[in-house]
Amino acid sequence: MKQGDMKKLLAILFLVFGVQCLTGPEQVHIAFYTSPWDISVTWITFEDADPALSYGTSTASMQNITGTTNTWKFGGIIRHSHVVILNSLKPSSQYYYQIGSRVFTFRTLSANLKSYKVCVFGDLGVYNGRSTQSIINNGIAGKFDFIVHIGDLAYDLHSDNGKLGDQYMNTLEPVISRIPYMVIAGNHENDNANFTNFKNRFVMPPTGSDDNQFYSIDIGPVHWVGLSTEYYGFEEQYGNTPTFTQYNWLTKDLEAANKNRDNVPWITLYQHRPFYCSVEEGADCTLYENVVLRHGALGIPGLEQEYIKNSVDIGFAGHMHAYERMWPVADLKYYKGEEAYHNPVAPVYILTGSAGCHSSGMKFSPIPMPWSAHRSDDYGYTVMTVANTTHILFEQISINKNGGVIDSV
Ligand SMILES: [Fe+2]
Repeated sequence: MKQGDMKKLLAILFLVFGVQCLTGPEQVHIAFYTSPWDISVTWITFEDADPALSYGTSTASMQNITGTTNTWKFGGIIRHSHVVILNSLKPSSQYYYQIGSRVFTFRTLSANLKSYKVCVFGDLGVYNGRSTQSIINNGIAGKFDFIVHIGDLAYDLHSDNGKLGDQYMNTLEPVISRIPYMVIAGNHENDNANFTNFKNRFVMPPTGSDDNQFYSIDIGPVHWVGLSTEYYGFEEQYGNTPTFTQYNWLTKDLEAANKNRDNVPWITLYQHRPFYCSVEEGADCTLYENVVLRHGALGIPGLEQEYIKNSVDIGFAGHMHAYERMWPVADLKYYKGEEAYHNPVAPVYILTGSAGCHSSGMKFSPIPMPWSAHRSDDYGYTVMTVANTTHILFEQISINKNGGVIDSV
């Protein structure tokens, strides 16, 4: 080939593939919107693009739909976040969706939804993201129906002007473009720009705040509530108004959920910072920040009384880089023994912050707190199986033990 022809060929290749690389959709992911059958599809481009996709139950019969674009600037980089809401999808159906030339697929949950599996964890990250490949493989293999990531996502979404966040979302894309990825913010989502990266990269249910910080959604027999503990953690930076706004919303949301037990019997909450733990860092969750969060102080309302008052069943947290299952516990009063999990009279808390995190080696306190039922410092994540309206199974998957179950209840 002559040198001139080679240059032409390279120019054509760049136009076809290079431009697509520059402007193509990336970081594609889905989440539940207002119900399990209303799904938000979110993606990012670095060039201006239409927020449009086509979707359908077969690739031969796709319909076009247009959503909205939010253009935002962080660290000098302009990103376009596009979102399309797919409303009133058919239950138990395989769907295909195409953005540009890229085709993805997901399967909707059944109409009479009684049982399903959820992958729950906090503290993953790009570097030292020990559970990432297992979560991708098991998610694609259908071993859980959706993911709940309880904060500290990429370590950090905003690092390197957000490029680490881009890398994180692209790494997880094979699984989160296929099964819903539900998130709340951890302390590492504070980008000192009022959680700009967290706000602009995700679309959570529009049932609480308008920036993904708190929300709730009914999924089969479980009322799920995601909360921000970072309002407490960064109160000096952002003021206490969001704390009160969330608290006022939570009291109403839990009261309504508690009245709706006949239809939706379980209530599960997830938040980044725990009420209870016995790891070395923060020793036993009795630091001031934990006390304010749980109990309240100086006029700031704590959250635990609302949980107790409304008989919350399960509370997940991360932040401490370990796994720890508690006995049912309310206001430091605990109910020990396997039988305590049968019709528990207090919430059951599970600390599952061992998915990865940027640093390893959190040591446990020598003596566990009395409400601690099981501890492990293996890397891993929790799989929660909602069996029916009366039974839930928790299993802790260990990466150190090649995906084996190291705790179940
Ligand atoms: Fe954290």
